Amino acid sequence: MKSIGIVGLGWLGLPLAKHLIQHNFNVKGTVTSLDKMNKIKEEGIDCKVLNLNLQENETELSDFFSTCDYAIITIPPNKTLFSSYENVVLKAFSLFNDATKVIFTSSTSIYSDTNADAVEDSIKLTDYNFTSQLFLTEKAILKKYGEKSTILRLGGLIGDNRHPVKYLSGKSNLPNPTAPINVVHQEDVIEIIKKIIEEDCFLELFNVCCDNHQSRKEFYDNEAKKMGIPALGFINENSIHKKVNNQKLKKKLNFEFKYNFFD
Ligand SMILES: NC(=O)c1ccc[n+]([C@@H]2O[C@H](COP(=O)([O-])OP(=O)(O)OC[C@H]3O[C@@H](n4cnc5c(N)ncnc54)[C@H](OP(=O)(O)O)[C@@H]3O)[C@@H](O)[C@H]2O)c1
Repeated sequence: MKSIGIVGLGWLGLPLAKHLIQHNFNVKGTVTSLDKMNKIKEEGIDCKVLNLNLQENETELSDFFSTCDYAIITIPPNKTLFSSYENVVLKAFSLFNDATKVIFTSSTSIYSDTNADAVEDSIKLTDYNFTSQLFLTEKAILKKYGEKSTILRLGGLIGDNRHPVKYLSGKSNLPNPTAPINVVHQEDVIEIIKKIIEEDCFLELFNVCCDNHQSRKEFYDNEAKKMGIPALGFINENSIHKKVNNQKLKKKLNFEFKYNFFD
């Protein structure tokens, strides 16, 4: 039975763990608080507390993860981690043994908005900002783990009670009504990660984004209607935009997205 360690049993990591367990993988993971750990353990998932900012129980965690064949890191570059994101992510991977293969959930926000057709090798770094932190983290993973690593650049995550239209509801001056959307459903991401493990698909870098690139206005109007909330207000102004290309992933994994958010 393959064994998987997930650092970050959060919005994506926890349902991923449950799905992998349902498919007979041995899964263990971490969260940052004792309370959450206890709740997750009650659901039958082997879990420990890990806060990579504190550096407290690394030996215990290395033992915990020592038998894992695969490591998945799902920690977002939030404000507290921002300046040290690369180190935090590398530290998380270093808790695993040398043979463990690693999967990192990066983001399509790595592509600048000027990147009309964002394919995997089309990054242009300009200055030191959010994008470059992600980029440097990806680079460090590739350098250290090379053929044992796969990086997934996820589009805007949707599903399981998370939808950007809800956060944007009530706003009246949103820009870029005609810019294409680049989103992906949680279930598709989970299925893709399972497939990567099952097919042992490493030394790869994939954009993970659904097929639908309709305009922001069309998409949000449609989704708001489905949810019975008022349409969002856009200003009539368009800037340059990006369209994230998913062809590499679809071909390599022979994958069809279940959720494309068309009507
Ligand atoms: N949101 C999006 O639209 C989007 C788009 C593209 C890519 N992504 C990427 O998708 C991945 C999953 O995102 P998500 O929404 O599932 O994130 P999330 O719900 O915030 O979960 C993050 C997990 O990481 C843990 N964590 C946070 N800080 C930590 C630290 N300092 N040390 C150890 N663990 C820590 C959290 O612990 P607790 O459970 O205790 O909080 C949680 O389990 C991330 O890599 C993110 O960058 C997200």
